[in-house]
Amino acid sequence: MIYPIVKFGNPVLDKPAEKVTVFDEALQKLIEDMFESMYAARGVGLAAPQIGISRRIAVVDVTFKEDPNAKLVLINPEIIHKEGRHSQSEGCLSIPDFRENVSRAQVVTVRAQDVTGKLFEKTGDDLLARAFQHETDHLNGKLYISHISALKRDLIKRKIRKLVKAGEW
Ligand code: NI
Repeated sequence: MIYPIVKFGNPVLDKPAEKVTVFDEALQKLIEDMFESMYAARGVGLAAPQIGISRRIAVVDVTFKEDPNAKLVLINPEIIHKEGRHSQSEGCLSIPDFRENVSRAQVVTVRAQDVTGKLFEKTGDDLLARAFQHETDHLNGKLYISHISALKRDLIKRKIRKLVKAGEW
């Protein structure tokens, strides 16, 4: 099932999501649906709050279907190590048609649970490190625009307000 993507302005994106404690078939189905929804929206990462579900689940595939082994499920993820700094253009399915340069750690290790509840650690660099940080932020109620200058952020918010008024958001 493809869920519609929740956009900036919806309060579900601003609150910390709830920890996952039950690893059952319903969770597996939700994760399949999240991948399906992410691919349909042409994204490389999706957090559950972005489909209106305030739970600590994210899916990532920075290869966008190229490499089946690149599909990652992050449940209750925590960033346990960060290294370096890297600035690159970043966007978000919940803030469509906007992009800004965001400075993030270049190498990141995440500790998370998989779909069965098993703990694992994974280290990624560049785009994968960026995805780990971006998606973990979502689960903490944070969007990438919180990492850019107030000036740029206000400009984006003003443009979005106009789109909302025009019924285009
Ligand atoms: Ni996002």
